[in-house]
Amino acid sequence: MSAPVVLGIETSCDETAAAVVRGAREVLSSVVHTQAQHRPFGGVVPEIASRCHVRLLPGIVEEAVRQSGLGWDAIDLVAATRGPGLASSLLVGWSFAKGLAMRLGKPLRAVNHTEAHLHSVFLDPAAPDPADCFPRVGLAVSGGHTNLYRLPGPGRVELLGRTVDDAAGEALDKAAKLLGLGYPGGPVIDRISRGRTPRAGLFPEGRVREGTETGGLRADLCLSFSGLKTSLLHRVAAEPPQGDDEVAQLACDYQEAVVDALVRRCGRALDATPGAVALAVGGGVSLNSRLRTALADLCARRGVRLLLALPKHCGDNAAMVAGLAGLGRGVPSPAAFDLEIDPSWAVG
Ligand code: KG4
Ligand code: ZN
Repeated sequence: MSAPVVLGIETSCDETAAAVVRGAREVLSSVVHTQAQHRPFGGVVPEIASRCHVRLLPGIVEEAVRQSGLGWDAIDLVAATRGPGLASSLLVGWSFAKGLAMRLGKPLRAVNHTEAHLHSVFLDPAAPDPADCFPRVGLAVSGGHTNLYRLPGPGRVELLGRTVDDAAGEALDKAAKLLGLGYPGGPVIDRISRGRTPRAGLFPEGRVREGTETGGLRADLCLSFSGLKTSLLHRVAAEPPQGDDEVAQLACDYQEAVVDALVRRCGRALDATPGAVALAVGGGVSLNSRLRTALADLCARRGVRLLLALPKHCGDNAAMVAGLAGLGRGVPSPAAFDLEIDPSWAVG
């Protein structure tokens, strides 16, 4: 049987996206609209996001099908993000997908957004086959999540660690706001830090404080970014940076602390995954150039393969959702039609 053609839909946060993917990896089209309406507010406003999804999604789905070069009758399966994410945003895409699958008379699949980020690395035609990359470690790192997983074999995903407070992207965005760099700040911090040498030891390591509830996870595989943020706040209050150069240096030091915290956890997760052959990293923060270099160094030292998504597949997109469904993951219909959204849907 030939690989199914999957229409994917993603609306978990502030990206409205649709894509057509053949099988698990062949992206025929991927349309992503990032809502700029949230910028003046310095963060995503759920009410604005859901209204935007309602207005834009039908046209974006239509466009994805058109760009795929295939007709509606070529779609074998509809897949959409059911969680985790913002409830009001998820509801738009998930309801739309249910209606569309019914209208087309095609099966429906509920996909987990975080697991889709872990799959995004395989949308690069140059990446190896997912079946050849077990066991591996996966890091999903964005503005909404920072989770570390062990993937021992096909269809098995085990949570190893997570942030106990802010996500890494959120930590960068909040720092950027504090430094007057705008929103979202991750890309700006990345850009102004390039070519600078970070000062060591200026910020705390992102360690989880003793006694913090980690839900049974190893504390040294979890992360905490709230202390880092507070430390920046105190520093800026005590010694306000003077001019662009001092701001850029502080941003660079802060970025290094975030990167260092992530890379150390990845190292420990590789230690906790005997025989690991690869480290797969997806999510908006995986665009960060310093993180990419530091992860490449770690993987070279460990002799494991680093799998990074193509830049266009790092942020939220629907190709990763369709691809994961094409791999046979997610909840299939008829059960999927009875499922409601799950804003805190955990992988596994
Ligand atoms: O995956 P994504 O598009 O959306 C979700 O949060 O799910 O990730 C957005 C996050 C934001 O926090 C943004 O600041 C961060 O990814 N980001 C970056 C870079 N590009 C985007 N962080 C650091 N360096 C970048 N180059
Ligand atoms: Zn995401």
